[in-house]
Amino acid sequence: MSQDITVKPGQLIERILTLELVRVTERAAVASARLRGRGNEKAADQAAVDAMRRELNKLPIDGTVVIGEGERDEAPMLFIGEKVGNKNGPKVDIAVDPLEGTTLCAKDMPGSIAVMAMAEAGTLLAAPDVYMHKIAVGPGYPTGIVDLDASPEENIHNLAKAKGVKPNEINCLVLDRPRHAELIAAIRKTGAGVRLITDGDVAGVIFTTKPDETGIDLYLGIGAAPEGVLAAGALRCIGGQMQGRLILDTEEKRARALQMGVTDPNRKYDMTDLARGDVIVAATGVTDGALLKGVNFGKDVITTETVVYRSATGTVRRIYGEHRELSKFHLD
Ligand code: FBP
Repeated sequence: MSQDITVKPGQLIERILTLELVRVTERAAVASARLRGRGNEKAADQAAVDAMRRELNKLPIDGTVVIGEGERDEAPMLFIGEKVGNKNGPKVDIAVDPLEGTTLCAKDMPGSIAVMAMAEAGTLLAAPDVYMHKIAVGPGYPTGIVDLDASPEENIHNLAKAKGVKPNEINCLVLDRPRHAELIAAIRKTGAGVRLITDGDVAGVIFTTKPDETGIDLYLGIGAAPEGVLAAGALRCIGGQMQGRLILDTEEKRARALQMGVTDPNRKYDMTDLARGDVIVAATGVTDGALLKGVNFGKDVITTETVVYRSATGTVRRIYGEHRELSKFHLD
């Protein structure tokens, strides 16, 4: 029986926009890559923000930034609530991290990326810029195989059982931070391995989707909430499970979250609460990393590598870009 491949009008726009998002993250990546290794996080981030905003405003969308560079008063561009796009298109939510891993870029270390998500309006969690407890596993496991409220021991044992291996064959990925000392000790006590990363937990979560390639089964720990929404968007496309809980440990944070619609400060969000509608996620490498190759500046050609995920079909595309007319590419 042949499959129904009819494309609804809304979906056609979305399909076309998939490639447009690639352009956006490519430009942000190239702009910040020019500042790789210069030790200036702010400048590298600003370059990515400027390029991303410029490109976003060319798109035929009526977009609202729900995950951005922060509140309007502290972020002059791509602030939460900012309208982007030329308005000739669908209403969409936009989540951006123009330079994920600013320190990695400033130090020219592996793993910084330019990343963004676009989703149906009102379907991405408008998360304040606070920390989030996160847990994520890749596809192929029964629902609820790991849980944010279970201990690391329980999660690792359950995951190992479902995978048909011993706990000491499970590998976890955790951000290398003093706040994770207890978590790391608890994981190691089970015999499982811990890979520590200095930054970049959007890619960290994505690594769980290909354990055979990355060696990572489980992501655990506390990272930034905006990155949590972006990672959930990507996982929605590839498959897997993720939960997150905002850390709203001051009155001010709770009030800000409430303003953004978070009525229950202790809510445990599932992947679909974080990103529930059709979503497209694009990421371009800035520095070389395990997920993506970084930007390469050749004599006449700049090359980029981008991955773009689409939840409607689960398609993952890797796009190798060769960009000519260097000055134009830079200034455009
Ligand atoms: P930036 O690009 O904003 O520096 O974020 C990098 C990052 O490592 C994220 O991937 C992660 O979620 C967050 O920082 C963790 O925050 P912190 O560095 O404060 O522990």
